[in-house]
Amino acid sequence: MCGIVGYLGEKSTVDVLINGLKKLEYRGYDSSGIAVFEKNEFKVMRAQGKLVQLEEKIKSNKPVGPVGIAHTRWATHGVPSEKNAHPHKVDGVCLVHNGIIENYSELKQELLALGAEFSSDTDSEVVAHLIARELKKTLQLRQAVHEVLKKIQGAYAILVVWDQQPQTMVAFKNGPPLIVGIGQGEMFVGSDVQAMLQYTKSVVYLEDNEVAEMTEKGVHFYSALGEVVQKSTSHIEWSTAQAEKMGFKHYMLKEIFEQPKAVSSVLEQYIDLATLSVNFDKMSEAPLKTAIETLQPSELKNLDRIFIIACGTSFYASMYAEYLIEKLAGVPVEVDVASEFRYREPVIPANSLVMVISQSGETADTLAVLRMAKERGAKTLSLTNTKGSTIDRESRGHLYMHAGVEIGVASTKAFISTLTVVNLLAIFLARLRGSMTHEQEQSYVQNLLALPSQMEAVLSYDKFFAKASSVFKAYRGFLYLGRGINYPIAMEGALKLKELAYMHAEGYAAGEMKHGPLALIDSTMLVVVICPKDAHYEKTLSNLQEAKARGGVIVSIGTGEDKNLKEMSREYLSLPKSDWMASGILSVIPVQLLAYHVANIMGYDVDQPRNLAKSVTVE
Ligand code: G6P
Repeated sequence: MCGIVGYLGEKSTVDVLINGLKKLEYRGYDSSGIAVFEKNEFKVMRAQGKLVQLEEKIKSNKPVGPVGIAHTRWATHGVPSEKNAHPHKVDGVCLVHNGIIENYSELKQELLALGAEFSSDTDSEVVAHLIARELKKTLQLRQAVHEVLKKIQGAYAILVVWDQQPQTMVAFKNGPPLIVGIGQGEMFVGSDVQAMLQYTKSVVYLEDNEVAEMTEKGVHFYSALGEVVQKSTSHIEWSTAQAEKMGFKHYMLKEIFEQPKAVSSVLEQYIDLATLSVNFDKMSEAPLKTAIETLQPSELKNLDRIFIIACGTSFYASMYAEYLIEKLAGVPVEVDVASEFRYREPVIPANSLVMVISQSGETADTLAVLRMAKERGAKTLSLTNTKGSTIDRESRGHLYMHAGVEIGVASTKAFISTLTVVNLLAIFLARLRGSMTHEQEQSYVQNLLALPSQMEAVLSYDKFFAKASSVFKAYRGFLYLGRGINYPIAMEGALKLKELAYMHAEGYAAGEMKHGPLALIDSTMLVVVICPKDAHYEKTLSNLQEAKARGGVIVSIGTGEDKNLKEMSREYLSLPKSDWMASGILSVIPVQLLAYHVANIMGYDVDQPRNLAKSVTVE
């Protein structure tokens, strides 16, 4: 989830680029770089580490020129290092990229066979090579981009310049955001409007498969095939309150869109990028220096049982954790809602870990469970979003969601952050207990590092989720179905609809349909099913056939182009292909957005639903 900035105009290019990168540093900060056209070529300067390292480098040797591109990186392919930092330059072509080129490996093999030499381990450099090759034929930067678009697959936002045509920047995207800013005789590009807001408020949002060609005369837009596209300019007029919401209508919507950033923050905290391994050493760092007891990560090695206890959305994250931890680490896991667990006289064997999950860190029932577990001599671990909260202070081990402040009462980004932490915890426990090799760990970690970009691709489909949500109001009841790790996601989807749109929805394990809920099915019941192409796919499909045969109307969420689901569904929502562990994190985004749009259409107070509170400090 990297940040891109571009500038063409008469201001100090370096200053505009660095100011933009500062605003985008939240998107990645393991390395950064700029390329500025000075004399007769784009001069590239890159540095590993935070942006200040790049600024330091530039100070003594500041390039001056009328056009430049810049990048702040969140590593996916290739460790954070100067050679993997962007821009990548190949035969005069300079390029910055946010996202993942899924077929980069095949393309790289083809290029290597043709004699290409690579100077980085990134997928991005492949695109620079491809454009450079096309330019030998077409001598026109945008034409070369159109040719390369036919070859690359994946989620990407790319900005490219060329030594031989220095007064032109070309931007194109599929998935991650890219925005063009229009000033007086100057052009800006950014991954986010914040990168240009101090200079211009006139912006154009690039859509997927569009290409923008910018010169000092202005900007022209084209389809991937090269046809001219007419686009309108938006004027950003943010009041102070809107600025806090970053232009989103509601905090909740803003928080949904902040989820790639939340996942990046978790990965940044708990992944050692040099070795691609999970590092939970910070678990033993107490929020208050005075804490006497701490939990060392090594104490998790020989646990007999893990209890994961929480309320509301955090409880559904606990269910998700149960699937992952049992499957990967082979430790028995028991999950429960805190209000039940504390009163049911649970048996907590010696050598158990009681993990409590709470966004606020203050939920009364969850806190009571933590205290009970301590009294009974269990090891305790908390996962909260609020450092120094009561639950955080009182537990022995401490993990954090790193989601940033969550204002919407219905939890969104804290949930996704929690799912990310529990993914890492499952990997960590598996490695500790010897059920996962380092190579397997690296492969899982690599998949997780790809998540923020995949999430941005899902978020870019928001208009399809909004359209699908418009059918909801015609129905009287809603069943959300899923199997495996998508069962808790179905529960969360139903909860979101209840919380926000005040509609009766139930989350069910798809295989349980025939044990009762099937009796509810008729044409007034909408069935929302999460059915990615995973090990449960065929079985979930059969459950859907049963619902369809009884007149049920289906909204399905699946992987890529899925003909089976499309045929059966009133609305089909597609997600990118991902690893099974990460797929739940992607499938939660559509169910959040469906509920948001339904509530918004109905004019409800999305950020503060009736009767609910963000932090429940009473029983
Ligand atoms: C309330 C909130 C929910 C939240 C639950 C648990 O019900 O409205 O969004 O999931 O409390 O809160 P916690 O802070 O413990 O995660």
